[in-house]
Amino acid sequence: MMRVGAQMMASLGRGDVVLLTGPLGAGKTTLVRGAVRAAGHQGGVRSPTFNLLQVFDTAPPILHADLYRLESWEGIGLEDYLADYVCFIEWAERAGGLLPANLAWHVSIEFRDSGRVVSINAPAGRELGKV
Ligand SMILES: Nc1ncnc2c1ncn2[C@@H]1O[C@H](COP(=O)(O)OP(=O)(O)O)[C@@H](O)[C@H]1O
Ligand SMILES: [Mg+2]
Repeated sequence: MMRVGAQMMASLGRGDVVLLTGPLGAGKTTLVRGAVRAAGHQGGVRSPTFNLLQVFDTAPPILHADLYRLESWEGIGLEDYLADYVCFIEWAERAGGLLPANLAWHVSIEFRDSGRVVSINAPAGRELGKV
């Protein structure tokens, strides 16, 4: 999952929004951890479930949000980051209306058999390098 995050990062830049869906424990935070490390962050990357937003001064800068405890994205200041950060948003089911669906990257992780299946959908006109 960390490798998927790291390899996705090669295709992402400021203004990209990655909406992550999948059940608790699927690996959403782990994927973001891989992306944040690949962008140069050396320290830990914890789940932002309690502090809602985490910002990393990486290149490009990354915002990591987790909407698990919220009913929507509204009221936490997320929109202030959309233009200048790569924004990874967990529990993106609650990000409805944040931006048009075709402008976001969508990552869904499902448990299947004894493993996990990751589906990545690029925004209109974009494509993912080799993952
Ligand atoms: N592909 C994987 N195979 C095995 N364990 C994994 C995998 N991806 C994540 N994990 C582990 O599953 C647990 C939950 O992962 P996490 O990324 O926090 O899930 P989520 O953010 O979706 O709730 C962590 O202990 C993580 O190390
Ligand atoms: Mg998580």
